Amino acid sequence: MSTRAVRGATTVKENTRGAILTETGFLLREMMEKNSLKNEDIICILFTATEDLNTAYPAAAARELGIVSAGLLDYPELKVKGGLKMCIRVLMLTEAIVAQSEIKHVYLNGAKILRTDLLRDENRVAVALDGPAGSGKSTIAKLVAKELGFTYIDTGAMYRSVAFYCIDKDIDYNNELQVISRLDNINIAVLSTKMGQRYLLNGDDVTDLIRSPEVSEGASKVATYKAVREKLVALQRECAAKQSVIMDGRDIGTNVLPNAEVKVFMEGQVEERAKRRFEELELKGITTTYEEILEDIKKRDYNDSHREHNPLRKAEDAVLLDTTHMTIEEVKDYIVEEIKKHIKEEE
Ligand code: CDP
Repeated sequence: MSTRAVRGATTVKENTRGAILTETGFLLREMMEKNSLKNEDIICILFTATEDLNTAYPAAAARELGIVSAGLLDYPELKVKGGLKMCIRVLMLTEAIVAQSEIKHVYLNGAKILRTDLLRDENRVAVALDGPAGSGKSTIAKLVAKELGFTYIDTGAMYRSVAFYCIDKDIDYNNELQVISRLDNINIAVLSTKMGQRYLLNGDDVTDLIRSPEVSEGASKVATYKAVREKLVALQRECAAKQSVIMDGRDIGTNVLPNAEVKVFMEGQVEERAKRRFEELELKGITTTYEEILEDIKKRDYNDSHREHNPLRKAEDAVLLDTTHMTIEEVKDYIVEEIKKHIKEEE
C-alpha cells in the first residue's frame, strides 16, 4: 500500500448544519466507494468551506461515518472573486493499492463545474456552435474551451483542408467527381498541442495555410458534396465521442451532434462580420480588401444556406444569439453560463 491523495468537492443548497453534514457525508462515501477505501485506510482529511457556510464543521461528517482514527481539519476557502458559492472541498490522504493516476476524484452537485475535464466518459458534454462566417464562432469557442477545459473542434478547418488539398494538387474543386475520386487519399487528423488544435492533412500541419480567401471559397464548394460531408461528419462525431467538446460549424446542432447538450446559433449583420474577418486577415498579413471579404461572405452565406446537404440552419432547440453589438467577453460569458446551467440541471 502507498499513500495516495483523493480530491472531492460538493455544494449545498442552504447554510444549515443538516445540509452541510448530509452533503459532506455523501461526498466522503462516494470518494471511498469509488476508490474501494475502508475507514482504517484513511490517514487524514482536510476540508475547506466557503465563507457562506458557517453552521457546521464539515469534518464532523467524517466522525459520523465512523472515521475515527484519521486526522481531520477544517479550513476557510480562499475568497476568490467569482468562485463557486456554498462549496465544500475535500482532500483525503489514504493508503491505497492503486497508482495515483488510477485514483478517482469525485465532484458532485454544482462542484462538477470545478473539473469539467472529468466530465468526459459518461458525463461528457457536447456544445454545438453554428452560424455564418465571421459571426465570431471560433474566437468564442476557443475561449469557452479554455475556461471549461473542453476540446475545441473547428469543423470548418476540415472542409478547408479538403479544399487546400485540391488547390495544392491541381484538382478542380468545382468538379465533384474529381474531388470525390480523390477522397480516399485525403486523411485529416486533429492534434491537440500546447499551441491548441492543429489540423494535419496527410501528416502535414496545414493549420496556418488554410485561412486564405481562395481556400474559403473552395471550402464552401467542397462542403456541398455529400461524400465529402459524410467523411468529415464521421470524423467530427469520433472527436466528440471521446471528450467534452465545443464544436463550431454550420450543421453541428442539426446534423453532426443533434443530441448536443447545449446548442447556440450565432449571427450578426453581414457588414459587421465582414469587418471582423477583414481585420483578422489583415493581422495575419493576408492582403485583401473589405469589399472582397464582404462579397466572399455574402456568397458563402448564400451557398451555405441554400445547399442540398446539411445547409446552414438554426436547430429548433438552439439558442439564437445576435452578436452584432455584443463584445467577445459578453458572448463567452453567456455561453459558459448556458453550459453551467446544463451541468446543474443534470444533478
Ligand atoms: O471561419 P469561417 O466561418 O469563414 O468558415 P469556416 O467555419 O472555416 O468554414 C469554411 C466553409 O466550410 C464554410 O463556408 C462552409 O461552407 C463549410 N462548412 C460546412 O459546410 N459545414 C461545417 N460544419 C463547417 C464548415
